[in-house]
Amino acid sequence: MAVGVHSEFSGVEGDFIELDGVEKVFDVRKKTGFLRSERRQVRAVDSLSFTVPRGEMVGYIGPNGAGKSTTIKMLTGILTPSGGRLRVAGIDPSRERTRLAQRIGVVFGQRTTLWWDLPLIDSYRLMHRMYRIPDGRYRENLDRCVELLQLADLLDVPVRQLSLGQRMRGDIAAALLHDPDVLYLDEPTIGLDVISKARVREFLRDLNAERGTTVLLTTHDLTDIEQLCRRVMVIDHGRLMYDGPLTGLHEVGESERTLVVDLERELPPIEVESARVVKVEGPRQWLAFPAASSAAPLVARIAAEYPLVDLSVREPDIETVIAKMYAQGGAEKAVS
Ligand SMILES: Nc1ncnc2c1ncn2[C@@H]1O[C@H](COP(=O)(O)OP(=O)(O)OP(=O)(O)O)[C@@H](O)[C@H]1O
Ligand SMILES: [Mg+2]
Repeated sequence: MAVGVHSEFSGVEGDFIELDGVEKVFDVRKKTGFLRSERRQVRAVDSLSFTVPRGEMVGYIGPNGAGKSTTIKMLTGILTPSGGRLRVAGIDPSRERTRLAQRIGVVFGQRTTLWWDLPLIDSYRLMHRMYRIPDGRYRENLDRCVELLQLADLLDVPVRQLSLGQRMRGDIAAALLHDPDVLYLDEPTIGLDVISKARVREFLRDLNAERGTTVLLTTHDLTDIEQLCRRVMVIDHGRLMYDGPLTGLHEVGESERTLVVDLERELPPIEVESARVVKVEGPRQWLAFPAASSAAPLVARIAAEYPLVDLSVREPDIETVIAKMYAQGGAEKAVS
């Protein structure tokens, strides 16, 4: 994983992943009776356009069936788009899948790329040969992954005996032995406990910072995104619904923040413009107000009219915002 030894892209600024009007339509046969079936088309990805510059770490999120894995499969060349234009490192993935394989690493959380019956180290040895990784580089990358992903005690264990978290770390190492410029992660923390998740996240953060690896991260765990990605893309029904900073989702989701007010004593619900009481518990009251507006004038009004002891502002949690956004089916306005 030596820094800066990449071939034609070294020193070149610009977009590393490019999608322009990409579509994927699946033909599905549905049985409708004895000897009868109906053909149906599923548009899994629908005129999808975005670019990712080199070295960026982007979150790619959306509800079940939104088209995330389909996108990643097209980006690896496993699936061929039904329409549009797609390039990764200047390569058309489905046409030059083998050449692209040298440049990308993939981790599908739901299935392993490791050999099930072999000890972990044997999978790595096979990849060493398959990808024709120079010996020195292989050793260096392996040592680094073993250290940072804490794999030392697991190398001689057959993959099927590893716990999910151990296997996932093993899979991430496998995806990185050949120094890929870009790493696609499809739910890399699925089913992991809190400690394993933290370890994987820390590793990814370091990888991105130190090696400049471009990372596309799909997950249902929004904490992954909050901790790793400044930019997030939201996809639903195969379409891009939002592309921007995570914080911007709050405004798009038209969500609310909460002001928690502690009064000197129990009082009737506070009456104030631009906020409404959503909960009262003894002297404590919760007021919801639009996330986009400042809390300061609201606090000033309440402080002037009520016996205030303490207060705090709670940000909307991102899960609520996104759930709301999916439900509205309409953050299209956020994508220009
Ligand atoms: N090989 C296939 N044949 C037919 N339909 C498919 C195929 N693969 C995916 N689909 C359909 O395409 C749509 C998008 O699926 P995809 O797996 O990309 O979603 P996803 O966003 O990864 O969802 P999840 O969060 O559940 O992993 C779904 O409606 C799915 O049923
Ligand atoms: Mg998926």
